[in-house]
Amino acid sequence: MSELSAIEVPLRQKNIVLIGFMGVGKTTVGQLVAGKLYRDFIDVDQELEKQHNMSVSEIFASMGEKNFREMEEKYICELVTNTRLKVISLGGGAFVNERIRKMCLDTCIVFYLDLSWENWKKRLHLIMNNRPVLQDKSLEEIEELFYRRQNDYENNNSKIATDDLNPEEVADYLVSSLKLGWELYE
Ligand code: S3P
Repeated sequence: MSELSAIEVPLRQKNIVLIGFMGVGKTTVGQLVAGKLYRDFIDVDQELEKQHNMSVSEIFASMGEKNFREMEEKYICELVTNTRLKVISLGGGAFVNERIRKMCLDTCIVFYLDLSWENWKKRLHLIMNNRPVLQDKSLEEIEELFYRRQNDYENNNSKIATDDLNPEEVADYLVSSLKLGWELYE
């Protein structure tokens, strides 16, 4: 543990973490939010890819999901403990891990990008090939995973229904609700 976890991080300096199922737009929205707040953006999957010089699919194939999940946990827990003022997007499976959930909720402001199953299904073809977790699963199995994961995502500081919003609108909504919170609570 670093010193940061021992001291309370001021609300305005807390990292902002985006969670939600694969393909809901965490990376796109995260980049936009970071730009609007003049913060650095960190996409956890991209960082793990850089560290290993492999795509997430290649990491799953060569090292296995268990190792990926361990690396994901270590990276995220260190990141949220040792930094502030970042916008961070997590991979869709990260919040299944209780330690990650707890650390993020203890140290960051967590936004859940919520999308209905009906609308998510329309995006499946766009992400199917580079999400190892979706490989070899039937649509029914993916739907079951989608709803199971929602229980974990319900642990958040703010939920945004994204069905009728484009990424720019989601980012604007997120930034205005953050600013409201900053004004109200500081
Ligand atoms: C995963 C989601 C992916 C990536 C990996 C596993 C998951 O991230 O971390 O393929 O288990 O939901 P995105 O949510 O950015 O697609």
